[in-house]
Amino acid sequence: MNTGKRNYLVAGNWKMNGSRSLVNEFIDAFSGVKFNHVDVALCPPSLYIPAFSGKGIAIGAQDVSHCDNGAHTGDLSVSMLTEFDCKYCIVGHSERREDHGESSRTVAEKARKVIEAGLIPIICCGEPLSVRENGNVNEFVESQLQAIFDLIDVKNLQNAVIAYEPIWAIGTGKTASPQEAQDVHGFIRSYVATKDASLAARIQILYGGSVKPDNAKELFAQPDIDGGLIGGASLKAKDFISICQAAS
Ligand code: PGA
Repeated sequence: MNTGKRNYLVAGNWKMNGSRSLVNEFIDAFSGVKFNHVDVALCPPSLYIPAFSGKGIAIGAQDVSHCDNGAHTGDLSVSMLTEFDCKYCIVGHSERREDHGESSRTVAEKARKVIEAGLIPIICCGEPLSVRENGNVNEFVESQLQAIFDLIDVKNLQNAVIAYEPIWAIGTGKTASPQEAQDVHGFIRSYVATKDASLAARIQILYGGSVKPDNAKELFAQPDIDGGLIGGASLKAKDFISICQAAS
């Protein structure tokens, strides 16, 4: 189904879910499975990251500190993530912004740390329901992304990934329609083009929010949707694999 646009990326975000037995289930389920033109990654809770090392599944962290190593109880540094073969790191998930009061500036600082360490940031943005109802989605998303471009030079964003995740669609079963998602993805790409046209052409923009095996294909078929960030459905190996297959 790849239309020659960009490679797809499907990343599973386990959030604060999972167990050692789920890790083993996934390692078994993924052994020998190949996807065409799709990069697949899993972002389990950090404690489970080492268990995936060397198992052929690209791994990401769900968050990282914007500080270097030091007196930051409970936090993880990028240098730790690099020691455990992490390839990706999610930054700015709406649950981090809401539960931990992370500002767009902090999110940008995290993205910068991730890039400096040679990892790929999956930079999340997306509006709450009230913003959608007021018709201000593009302005809201632009202000979240503006903080990234204010802090990080475009030449350092060449490998970055953006994930558009409308908050009202996360974990609610209410997916944005393919057209609603495409409208915002198209806006994001045109916004990135105002900073750097070649970056806009290559940057992967993922959709997140109640992606399931039965709606993935139509979402991924949209011209500016380059894959997904998958929460709930990434906790079942069979569902996650069929979402990855929908992109391949
Ligand atoms: P969901 O979560 O697929 O469970 O809606 C997506 C996310 O928050 O990344």
